[in-house]
Amino acid sequence: SVLAVWLLPVVWLLTPSRNRPATRTVKPTVVLTTRLPGHAMAALDARFDLVQLGEPVSRALLLERAPGAQALIALLTDRVDADLLDAVPDLRIIANVAVGYNNIDLEAARARGLVVTNTPDVLTDATADFMWALTLALTRRISEGERLLRRGAWKGWAIDFLLGHDLRGRQLGIVGFGRIGRAVADRASGFGMKIAHVRRPSEPAGTNGAMTLDELLATSDVVSLHVPLTSETRHLIDQAALARMKRSAYLINTARGPVIDEAALAWALRNRMIAGAALDVYEREPEVHPELLELENVLLAPHLGSATVEARTAMADLAVRNVVAVLGGNPPLTAV
Ligand code: GLV
Repeated sequence: SVLAVWLLPVVWLLTPSRNRPATRTVKPTVVLTTRLPGHAMAALDARFDLVQLGEPVSRALLLERAPGAQALIALLTDRVDADLLDAVPDLRIIANVAVGYNNIDLEAARARGLVVTNTPDVLTDATADFMWALTLALTRRISEGERLLRRGAWKGWAIDFLLGHDLRGRQLGIVGFGRIGRAVADRASGFGMKIAHVRRPSEPAGTNGAMTLDELLATSDVVSLHVPLTSETRHLIDQAALARMKRSAYLINTARGPVIDEAALAWALRNRMIAGAALDVYEREPEVHPELLELENVLLAPHLGSATVEARTAMADLAVRNVVAVLGGNPPLTAV
């Protein structure tokens, strides 16, 4: 027994700390569907048990891998609905790595007392820059010209070859005047454009210089969408809205695909009801309406609005900081 008394502390010291029942601290489980960029994974790993699921997240995967999850870090491609939430009864926070949160059933989250966070501000510049990249590429026919060049059809410089249009003096109509809409407006003076805006589609005209949507559509040379996707904005740009636009006007969408009725847009482009469109988002990503793929007067980008190293790293960091705050008993930084 003298030997046993002597050995006990030694055995204790040799046992890896995570296996010592008395001192084991239970880390909360955080579920995520993809590896995040930058230092986000290290920051999470230091504090939590991480379970990385395949994307998109499903109820079956959650039940199997992490029914005790306390935080879910979701991507805009993850549909988070009531059925999914029922699989994780201990959940406290859904941290969306996006500024839009139409992928989350907010009612279902609210009913379960969950915190939902998004990543505003950190992607505003990247998305506003991208709107201008699309606008310039469309009005100067850059992707149309590149397609032509790559298929060997370029015959050389010509005075009337692939002419686009100037922006100076034209009106930019901004639909949705929040963070991104304003950042787009800030950049417009560099191109000499006049600004018109509607803050929200339902807002009465005349508030702080805002027009009605109909007025904006009828008078703008470039119409750019910056509204969130809600039941109010789904198919906001339908056949009637497109018919109201100038035949010389361009439509830009860096918001959410279903804000535009894609079939109606294909009709408008085919019939030259508008001059062109540039899309970064689609109704059924990654599917694109087949008719749009056939048209020259539409520029199609694969949802790249926030796709810079800087923006994506900051988005991941902000999502992690929200999880750390909420699981640490503190208020979230950016609750929706
Ligand atoms: C990107 O589309 C976002 O909503 O952050």
